[in-house]
Amino acid sequence: MEIRSVRGMNDLFGEELYQWTQVENRIKQIFGSFGYSEIRTPVLEKTEVFSGTVGNETDIVEKQMYQVITDSETYVLRPEGTASFMRSILENKLHTSGQPSRFFYYLPMFRHERPQKGRLRQFHQFGAELINDSSPEADAELITVLDQIYKSFEITEYRVRINSVGCNQCRGDYKETLKNFFRPKLQQLCEQCQKRFERSAMRILDCKRENCRETTKTAPLITSCLCADCKAHHERVKSCLIQAQVKFEEDPYIVRGLDYYTRTAFEFTSELLGAQDALGGGGRYDGLSARFGEAPFPAVGFGLGMERLMIVLKEKQNLPQFNFAPSFFFAPIGEKAFEILYPLSLRLKRQGIWCDISYDKTKGLKWFLKQANRVNANYSLMMGDEELKNGIALLKDMKQGSQEEIPMASLENELLRRVHREP
Ligand code: HAM
Repeated sequence: MEIRSVRGMNDLFGEELYQWTQVENRIKQIFGSFGYSEIRTPVLEKTEVFSGTVGNETDIVEKQMYQVITDSETYVLRPEGTASFMRSILENKLHTSGQPSRFFYYLPMFRHERPQKGRLRQFHQFGAELINDSSPEADAELITVLDQIYKSFEITEYRVRINSVGCNQCRGDYKETLKNFFRPKLQQLCEQCQKRFERSAMRILDCKRENCRETTKTAPLITSCLCADCKAHHERVKSCLIQAQVKFEEDPYIVRGLDYYTRTAFEFTSELLGAQDALGGGGRYDGLSARFGEAPFPAVGFGLGMERLMIVLKEKQNLPQFNFAPSFFFAPIGEKAFEILYPLSLRLKRQGIWCDISYDKTKGLKWFLKQANRVNANYSLMMGDEELKNGIALLKDMKQGSQEEIPMASLENELLRRVHREP
């Protein structure tokens, strides 16, 4: 077949999707226990939701957005969650109470990047956002929730790096200091960093190229430029993390690839991922609502890549067990048996018990047992003319291999008893 899926966009089904769902459910539970309620936004947004907000000089806005063009409008497929979240919060006035409010989302994101291990063009992100709370405790909470998610999957192979990128005031001063440092060294930087120099000099610190890394080694650090308030905020975030027993390290090179961050910025990385080692990341973005032309209010959040979490779980052989199998497989041999087993299978299904039944009544016992094995049923129940005559059915425990005769009159109760493991 010639027609294939779009490069960097995957199908999910069967065992793999089952495992995803188990993992998703666990994460949703964790969000529940930290008081985060779900929000869903449309996959299409107007371009301006991201262009002036995530930052025009960011890779996402500059070169990674998918456009959807209709006769009269151009839209984009959501490349990240925070700007759509903010658009929705403002539009639905969910911030106006002024009270701290917690949200999470689980949505596909689209970025036109070069696909490689852990980097897709359609990927899935869990995100958490806490609005109307400017306290450093809120920043620490987000980092703690993300840490809790990985801990709950018994992942230990990750590092938590945190930084403060300052507020508008001190970051402005820092950018100037940084530009003064890089100006005489521009030739030593890669082409992209030379382009970044004028408008987003801090992103040079984030460059992975050897030459740029060498040059940035002696660059002035944001930590030395933070104002007193930002410094105090950062210190308090750290002490909260110590209290929460979250292991972290300070990394003044964390600047993040999105423009909206203020003060706290953080990244979780894992060496189990290879080159694309970011498991998740986020930070504070108190100024984002102002980029939508609204009054500023505090907000902090993170995004977690599902594909990358699944890679780590696979690497650790820690994926959830595939447990999608019927309790019973009914094998009616002949029409008469089918007339009895079919309604019984429906009654069980209606009680929430998965009971598979073959609609082919012409096959023999051997074939049915093969099918029961194939679908991994716990029990198979066989009924043919002989059993009908004796008023019984044959129940086989597929795991133990044992077989017993069950009187027809008590069949339903006996099956229920087995599912509910009654004595
Ligand atoms: P981000 O760092 O761009 O942040 O993405 C968050 C996570 O999404 C990454 O750490 C990574 O695990 C995953 N990810 C990113 N790009 C890809 C890709 N192409 N393929 C697979 N996984 C990917 C944000 O998006 C911010 N909105 C996070 C945030 C929320 N900040 C505040 N609130």
